[in-house]
Amino acid sequence: MCGIVGYIGTRQAPQICLAGLRRLEYRGYDSAGIAVVHDGELDVRKVVGKLDTMDEELEKNPLVGTIGIGHTRWATHGKPSVENSHPHLSDNGRIAVVHNGIIENYQELREQLTGEGYEFKSQTDTEVMAHLVQKYYEGNLRAAVCRAVADLEGAFAFGIICADSPGELVAVRRFSPLVVGIGEGENYIASDMGAIRQETDRVYVIDDDEVALITTDGIELTDLDLNPIEREVFVIPWPADAAQKGGHKHFMHKEIHEQPDAMRNCLAGRLSDPGKPIKLEGLNMTEQEIKNLRRVVFTACGTAYHAGLVGRFLMESLARIPSEADLAAELRSRDPVVLDNTLCIVISQSGETADTLVALRDMKAKGAKVISVLNVVDSSIARESDGVVYIQAGPEIGVASTKAYTLQIFTMAMIAIHFAEVRGAADPELIRTLKQDLLNTPKLAEELLAREDDVKAIAAKHYEKPNSLYLARGVNLPSAMEGALKLKEISYIHAEGYSAGEMKHGPIALVEPNLFTVAIVVEGEVYEKMIANIMEIKARSGPVIAVATDGDEQIPATGLDEDADPDDVAAQPNDMIWVPPTHELISPITVAIPLQLLAYHIADMRGEHIDQPRNLAKTVTVE
Ligand code: G6P
Repeated sequence: MCGIVGYIGTRQAPQICLAGLRRLEYRGYDSAGIAVVHDGELDVRKVVGKLDTMDEELEKNPLVGTIGIGHTRWATHGKPSVENSHPHLSDNGRIAVVHNGIIENYQELREQLTGEGYEFKSQTDTEVMAHLVQKYYEGNLRAAVCRAVADLEGAFAFGIICADSPGELVAVRRFSPLVVGIGEGENYIASDMGAIRQETDRVYVIDDDEVALITTDGIELTDLDLNPIEREVFVIPWPADAAQKGGHKHFMHKEIHEQPDAMRNCLAGRLSDPGKPIKLEGLNMTEQEIKNLRRVVFTACGTAYHAGLVGRFLMESLARIPSEADLAAELRSRDPVVLDNTLCIVISQSGETADTLVALRDMKAKGAKVISVLNVVDSSIARESDGVVYIQAGPEIGVASTKAYTLQIFTMAMIAIHFAEVRGAADPELIRTLKQDLLNTPKLAEELLAREDDVKAIAAKHYEKPNSLYLARGVNLPSAMEGALKLKEISYIHAEGYSAGEMKHGPIALVEPNLFTVAIVVEGEVYEKMIANIMEIKARSGPVIAVATDGDEQIPATGLDEDADPDDVAAQPNDMIWVPPTHELISPITVAIPLQLLAYHIADMRGEHIDQPRNLAKTVTVE
């Protein structure tokens, strides 16, 4: 959840660490800190708040040093405070540690170390590591780190420097992400490639229980017993400016607008002709395995889970395989029965979400084959899956997931169509239509983005309302859930995504003029039923924003009561969000785009911190 960055070279480390932390700020943002070694001493600055506060602190109290480590924190153990922010120092003040992850046995270690005379200054789990390294330090920092790690249980990526080993930066990981960036006469560490992409495109991806000894002109990778490890250099596939805002006010806005290109990337090399089979490199499943499947279980967290709900619908409708979708945290807690020939499809933008990773391990242990639908390359989930299909969305920085969501659905649609073809389960004409519609989708996404001002005008009408309801049925029920999640997470407006079929079983009690309802009523199987729901809402003076297919003449006036008081919403036509026609089964992709824009503009009009909503983090690497 936290972000770490480190530098060793000839330039000033604090500035490089701070720039890297800024690119990681989305991971955690309640406090930050930087430590350097200079003239044989450690020097540390810590602040509570956003990184601008760190900037001010460095102006007032400059830090000087060419080796340093930095950290941005999202509190897990101990409240956000200067004492609890990283880097943490050893008792003798000679060793500094930054950490991402959670040390599970820290209470026990803390008691033990306290008994041995070490004095704790924070409530964090991390501080035990600083003291442990001191305890084991006999002139060799890397050796001390390896011994200390042997005492730890849990998840971690550490960056460690020591005043008595001034030319060395040591990094080690277990379960939490870590890369070492390769420069010329300088090197870096980071918990995310995006943090150092500005400096280099060449990295080593560090694996569990591997340690890196980094100097100005060398990087040695070993296991914890100091046996050397050979690792290929990984070249970061996106350009240096890809992690910047590129003229948009927020990353979220930029990422919403990146969707057409991202869809084209996702299609590239996989689908170009509706008459030809889809090619999914990385899927790693034979035709026979696909034919033998008896069950598919989708699992994920947050937005990715909503994409999984669409995936389940597509898999069942098209490939005719019994399917279910479960929240990762729930799947693991209910000890599911896994039959032979069960496939688990894990969906994750980051590939690092702790609950998703654990659910993957459980499903694998029970005998399921696991394939994952991921964005970040070479993440922990990627490495533990039997096959990986990348969504090719490029880096997603905004905490509220947008392009990853539509691309997850896009990718799962390709997987479901591929399975349907291999199994001969769907009408070939339908398959052809869906493939053609997927090929058209980037163009439709462009059209939808060109209509942004219409959505903004609707946002302006409703942004002050405190409550909202998103209703849909069938394959678009997840669209309603995701639309509501988007709105609540960035605008803090109470929003519920509900099956319209359940309206009369509770939510209708909420309807009143101050609650707006977003009704997804695109062409398809559930159209007539959705009309009836809109009428019920209008009859109770609830304002309706309808998401409907271009050219629909019925919806604007649905539920209109010409005899009603003109101030009553029942007398006013519905607010319309128009989407171009596409097959209902893949309409969740197009429907998502204006709902992302609606949430974005409402939050912006309310003046919220869109890219860094309160209490949320982009990647949840703790359970
Ligand atoms: C956090 C993010 C969400 C994301 C979820 C799952 O809650 O804020 O945007 O959907 O984690 O993350 P993943 O990286 O596994 O898709």
